[in-house]
Amino acid sequence: MKILVSGKGGVGKTTIAAALSLTLSSNGYRVLVVDADSVPNIGQSLGLAKHEEIIPISKNESLIEERTGARPGEGWGIFFSLTPQVDDLVDKYAVKINDKLRLLVLGSIDASKEGCLCPAIALGKALLLRLFTRKDEIIVVDSEAGAEVFGRGLAERFDLNLTVAEPTVKSLKIAKKLVDLAKELNVVNNIVVLNKVVKVREAIHVFNEVFKEGEVPYFIVRYDPNIPTLEVKGLGLDSIPKNSIIYEDVSALSKKIIKYKNYGKQ
Ligand SMILES: Nc1ncnc2c1ncn2[C@@H]1O[C@H](COP(=O)(O)OP(=O)(O)OP(=O)(O)O)[C@@H](O)[C@H]1O
Ligand SMILES: [Mg+2]
Repeated sequence: MKILVSGKGGVGKTTIAAALSLTLSSNGYRVLVVDADSVPNIGQSLGLAKHEEIIPISKNESLIEERTGARPGEGWGIFFSLTPQVDDLVDKYAVKINDKLRLLVLGSIDASKEGCLCPAIALGKALLLRLFTRKDEIIVVDSEAGAEVFGRGLAERFDLNLTVAEPTVKSLKIAKKLVDLAKELNVVNNIVVLNKVVKVREAIHVFNEVFKEGEVPYFIVRYDPNIPTLEVKGLGLDSIPKNSIIYEDVSALSKKIIKYKNYGKQ
């Protein structure tokens, strides 16, 4: 199963993606986390040491040249492979977090920000499109904020899109646009994760103002005061107790996701 975590900047995509991956892996699933943010940082949330620097695949010029036949920045006018070989990249480049959890740092695949990095985009796109899972495997992709991930066909072939939003009209309106884009790309399972919720009833009320009844399911993850404390110390979500709010809510979310995985659209 391939899960995309999308949403506006700062809503909690990385936090949700990390808590979900830790939860699913501790429930026995093999999880591959793909960090597709231009400022990759999910490693810290997963508990990787602060000083551990991973070079994103999209910045690994020699790898890109080896696989596509061109270096990033060489741009148009040269030929490069749009279908580079990617099957061994997880084995070679994914970092082990624990026995069931691996992290692959892809980095930005956003051409608009760095000029024409076409060979890097070809490699990132091939990787996202051609990663498939076996029965006990789940891929969780933490994406760049906003709609970019829905461009260039990067979000195709996901089984589930989790659009994270704060319980505000502004954040939910953006979430609605992202869910619509996901649906246009034939992602049939979509859930809006209302995150950092303090007042549950108020959050549901705001959600119902923006989304029509039955348009998309929502899921509530409450505000967890442990999380800002962790971030000050540069620690990962693995260092807070399993009975804390974030784990309580995200494990309920993971149960819902497993149902989608086993029985399709709910
Ligand atoms: N449920 C929560 N309870 C408390 N704080 C939270 C929660 N979820 C996220 N946060 C806080 O919100 C901030 C943004 O979270 P995060 O980095 O996960 O967002 P993001 O959507 O990945 O951001 P970006 O768009 O920059 O990638 C962080 O400081 C994080 O600690
Ligand atoms: Mg993030």
